[in-house]
Amino acid sequence: MSRDALVDIAKENMALYDAQDVILADDLMKIPADIYTSSERFEEEKDRIFKRMPLVLAPTAELPNKGDYKAMKPAGVPILLTRGDDGVVRAFMNACGHRGAQFADVGTGNTKRFTCPYHGWTYNRQGELVGIASKERFGEIDEDCYALAELPVLEKAGLIFGILDPKSDLDIETFLSGYEDFLAHFGFENWTLFESRTIEGPNWKVAYDGYLDYYHLPVLHKNTIGGAMSPNATYYSFGPHTHVTAPERFEPLRGLEEKDWPMETLLIGVWTIFPHISIASFQGGGRSVMLSQLFPGDEVGTSYTTQYYLMENAPSDEQRAEAHEQFDLLETVVLDEDYWCGKQVQEALASGARDHVLFGRNEGGGQVFHGWVQKIVETEDDKLNELFEG
Ligand code: FES
Repeated sequence: MSRDALVDIAKENMALYDAQDVILADDLMKIPADIYTSSERFEEEKDRIFKRMPLVLAPTAELPNKGDYKAMKPAGVPILLTRGDDGVVRAFMNACGHRGAQFADVGTGNTKRFTCPYHGWTYNRQGELVGIASKERFGEIDEDCYALAELPVLEKAGLIFGILDPKSDLDIETFLSGYEDFLAHFGFENWTLFESRTIEGPNWKVAYDGYLDYYHLPVLHKNTIGGAMSPNATYYSFGPHTHVTAPERFEPLRGLEEKDWPMETLLIGVWTIFPHISIASFQGGGRSVMLSQLFPGDEVGTSYTTQYYLMENAPSDEQRAEAHEQFDLLETVVLDEDYWCGKQVQEALASGARDHVLFGRNEGGGQVFHGWVQKIVETEDDKLNELFEG
C-alpha cells in the first residue's frame, strides 16, 4: 500500500476537523451480555478464533538472531518459535515426538539444541530430531516422522504471525487483507525491543473493546493521558482489522507541504490486528510504540496482556530513562484504569445486571470487531479463506 492511502486518511481527517464532524456507523449495535460471561462461549471462542486465526506470536524484535527462541502457551496451546540457522522463523508444537513432553520452558533464549527433559531426545533449531538417547536399544524409527509438528507461520512487517493448528490451510496473507502494507510503514523489522511486561485483565473481549474506541479517553483517563483528548474517532477497517485515529491528531500537518508530511504523523493512532493486538504509536524517548498482545486467560473472566515497548532506535541513556517513565505510565493507565474498569464491567455483567451492552454510532471500531467475532465463530474451516477473500 502506497503512502498515498495514508495521505488520503490524513486529508479526510483534516476535512472532518475543519467541519467539526465525525464519521458515524449506520446504527447502534446491541451485543448479548453473555458473550462476555458464558464459559461455553469462552471455550468456543478459544477454539474457533484463537486456535484457527493467525495470531501475532511475537514482534520480530523479540527473536532477531539465529537461534533465538520463545516458548509460550497462547490459549493454553504449548508452542515454540525459533529462528533457524537459515534466519527463517518457524513455529512448532512444544511436544516431544517420543511421548509428548514439553521440552522448552515458557520464556525466551538462544540455543543450538532443545533437549527433552523426560528421556533426553534432542531437536535442532529447525525442529529436526537430531538425537535419540540410547538409540541402539530404542528400536528403528523414521526420524523424519518424529520431527516437531510445524505450524503455519508468516513473518511480515516486522511481526511474526502463526496459526496454532498444524493442519490449517488458512492463508495468512489473505487474512491480513492488505493491512500488512500499512503496518510495513513502521519498519518494525529493524526496531528494538526495549522491554516487555505481562499484566492480567478481564475477559479478552472486555479488555479488547477498550483498545477500539476513543470515546472513553477523556473520561476514564482524565487524570492521566486523556484530559485534553477528544472522544471523537475515525475508524478504517481492512477485513477484520481496524485502524483507529482522530481528526485532531493530524493538525500538526497544517502548513506543511504534502510531500513533507512525516510518516510518524501519517501513522498516528491505534492499529489493531484481529483478534488480539493493538499497536499505539506515540513520541517520547525516540520514535516508539506500545504493542499490546492479548490472550484469553484460564477462565472466561480473565485474560493476560503482554505489553511490548518497541523503539525505532536503540535508546541513549537519557532516552532510556524517558522510555521507562513512559512505559510505567502506560502500564498504570492500562492496569489501573482500563483493566480496573474492565473488571468492574465483568463483575456487573456476570451478576446478570444487564442482558445486553451497547455500541454507539460513534463506536464503529467495536461494532466491526464484534461483527467479525460472530462471523468467524459461525464459519466452518473449509470456508475461512473465502470469508477473508471478501
Ligand atoms: Fe521427550 Fe521422551 S518424551 S524424550
